[in-house]
Amino acid sequence: MESIWLKEVSFQKRSSLHKDLKTDVVIIGAGITGILTAYFLKKKGFRTVVLEADRICGGQTKGTTAKITSQHNLIYDRLIRVYGEEKARHYAEMNEWAIREYERIIAEKRIACDFVKCSANLYSCMEEEPLQREAEAARRLGISAQFKTECELPFAVKGVLEFRGQARFHPLKFLKELAEGMEIYEETPVLKVEHCGAGNNFVTAGNASVSAGKVIFACHFPFVNIPGYYFARMYQERSYVIALEHAAKLQECYLGIDQNGYSFRQEGDLLLLGGGSHRTGDNRQGGKYQMLRNEAARLWPGCREEAYWSAQDCMTLDQIPYIGAFDKKAQDWYVATGFGKWGMTSAMVSARILSDLLEGKEVTQAEIFSPQRRICMAAVKELVVNGGVAAGNLAKQLLSPKRTEEGTEEGKSFEVSVKCPHLGCKLSWNPDEHTWECPCHGSRFDSRGRLLDGPAQRGIRKEKN
Ligand code: FES
Repeated sequence: MESIWLKEVSFQKRSSLHKDLKTDVVIIGAGITGILTAYFLKKKGFRTVVLEADRICGGQTKGTTAKITSQHNLIYDRLIRVYGEEKARHYAEMNEWAIREYERIIAEKRIACDFVKCSANLYSCMEEEPLQREAEAARRLGISAQFKTECELPFAVKGVLEFRGQARFHPLKFLKELAEGMEIYEETPVLKVEHCGAGNNFVTAGNASVSAGKVIFACHFPFVNIPGYYFARMYQERSYVIALEHAAKLQECYLGIDQNGYSFRQEGDLLLLGGGSHRTGDNRQGGKYQMLRNEAARLWPGCREEAYWSAQDCMTLDQIPYIGAFDKKAQDWYVATGFGKWGMTSAMVSARILSDLLEGKEVTQAEIFSPQRRICMAAVKELVVNGGVAAGNLAKQLLSPKRTEEGTEEGKSFEVSVKCPHLGCKLSWNPDEHTWECPCHGSRFDSRGRLLDGPAQRGIRKEKN
């Protein structure tokens, strides 16, 4: 089912790329990151072309819960311990700036996008201590944060950490205005990106190509494996949302930090209840939507479900996005990915860092986001775990006697190859979404085998139906 954002906004259809072009910058991906970056670059005088495999905002942007917040779960206490106070401050400052920048652009362009200032809160029903530590860390970094023991949620909590001055909005209403007049080509999947010398890059999309001085990968998960090796440095998580009528009207946004904690966020008369996060490819049992429905019925008997949908997030080894130069070996290429659950502020931060870098400006606060940063010990462990998961699933595929399996949708069965076309891991069925998912790096395919999400670049062969 579609998210509530798509019910209210439709984008004017743009043509696909039919002729060769030359430009200053080509951006791959017309989601929130691509559009914001194109907006910043246009203001700086760059000719920018955006190539989108699907429709504008047809990827992960349409599935967001659109909380504009610097509160990224429990992060600041850990950032100070792992990377030191200065770098942690840079992370906080950039994300706090992102909130103000949304407000500034919306006011300047008078965009009617339901922008509401509100607090963002972390809550726990089990313990106070992590929230108190995080409150102290956030205050040290200049964030307006306070620990409380009460809030408007309809159940008892042990503690709440409130960040003031945060916001929420309708992401597609905002992006529709911003995308006006941009050179965007839809249904134009990029097949190949080549570096042919300094300032000379060649992007092949369908039967046409774009020659560009710089290339920005804003396509959620970069599909180029080498250089960059992003497939070894990220995995993906899927989470679920239901939109409820006749539930509580909450003023503020909430995220539970306990295992199986929920997310709550008001949008007009609807309350968005989210949760059920899992590594993509690890939901063979299903039941995620049902879990949310059970919780909704327990908290607000008589509430009605208006919509349900799911979203996918790229998770990095140290939970900090990769924003900056793509790789030392790929001069002129840039990337913005690995936003975790925090796509709104991370997209704005990306637009600023990337547009400044392309202009040749030094960005002091950018170092903490650099894809080439030195990773911490915890990230090394994560790298090993990630590699283990990939190796295990690759072995499963190699050892499996079954090359094809059946998935069912609307009573019909479809048999497809269960070998992921990205790097060959074994796909698994997600009964909640009726999709085939790859546990290694998160590619997804519909029941008929058509590609939904990368890094894979093609679908899985249908054997019969
Ligand atoms: Fe990489 Fe499937 S997404 S092997």
